[in-house]
Amino acid sequence: MAEKAHWFPVLASSELGKKPLAKTRFGERLVFWRSKESVVCMPNRCPHRGAALSLGRVVNNNIACPFHGLEFAPGGKCVHMPVEQSQRITDDFGLRSYTVCEVDGYVWLWRGDESPAAELPPVPKHSGLIGLRYGESTSVWPAHYTRCIENVCDFSHLPFVHSKTIGRAMRDGPTPVELEEFTGGFRGHLMKQKGPKPVLEFLYPNMWMLHASHNIYMTAVFVPVDDHSTEVYGRSYYRLPIPKILADGYTRLSQLIVFAEDWPVVASQEPWDVNDASDERLLPSDAPVIAYRKLLRNYQ
Ligand code: FES
Ligand SMILES: [Fe+2]
Repeated sequence: MAEKAHWFPVLASSELGKKPLAKTRFGERLVFWRSKESVVCMPNRCPHRGAALSLGRVVNNNIACPFHGLEFAPGGKCVHMPVEQSQRITDDFGLRSYTVCEVDGYVWLWRGDESPAAELPPVPKHSGLIGLRYGESTSVWPAHYTRCIENVCDFSHLPFVHSKTIGRAMRDGPTPVELEEFTGGFRGHLMKQKGPKPVLEFLYPNMWMLHASHNIYMTAVFVPVDDHSTEVYGRSYYRLPIPKILADGYTRLSQLIVFAEDWPVVASQEPWDVNDASDERLLPSDAPVIAYRKLLRNYQ
């Protein structure tokens, strides 16, 4: 996977409680945990003899390995070796600690040269969502995250993949889309004849939003697990006072129905990674896909 200097949302804040959490991201096994100050992210492998730190616990603001109790501070330094009381702990006996931050209900991981989070650019944000309540749900697609992103930005597959659901109204052919590109993303305006015109917004590196109607926004972030797997964090935002349990249920249902139609086709695409697909024959109706590939090139 190519390295990109950018903030990636990689986890929902709601997933991470008091216990350490194991997640594979960008093909690497990681552990996330909460110190008193912030979220911490490290390789999920103890430098002593390789046990998963995610099976351990947080003790005195450190993460303790489940195997022999070595403790690592949020910065990665080993600060306690209970089995070797007499041994001086050397500075090199530690772990890398990745740059992370927590904003808008996501945990974000910085991909690029290491810097303190406070010195890095702000995380990207969709417009229009501030103050709205939302429901959330996750699913995993057996596909590269770049293919998943192209799929949700592509209006022209709707009458085919979703002929019985969200694409029913387009049976006579896809509705034209007007594309508006800006730094760090693009918008697609669906040029429907009647009613409010849905707007799709994509923000690099992996954030998608559909402003479906005045009161509802759907969002999804596509988190790279490894080259063949993507964890999708879906949300539905409402202007209406809908109870969280109903909003979660609606988000789950829409993922079960609509995304379940998408992923088998997406997982069938070759090559897996869009960065390797330069020989594809793109059509004018692929304008959002072309815009996405331009962003990929610009940020690499
Ligand atoms: S493997 Fe972690 S303390 Fe031994
Ligand atoms: Fe789709």
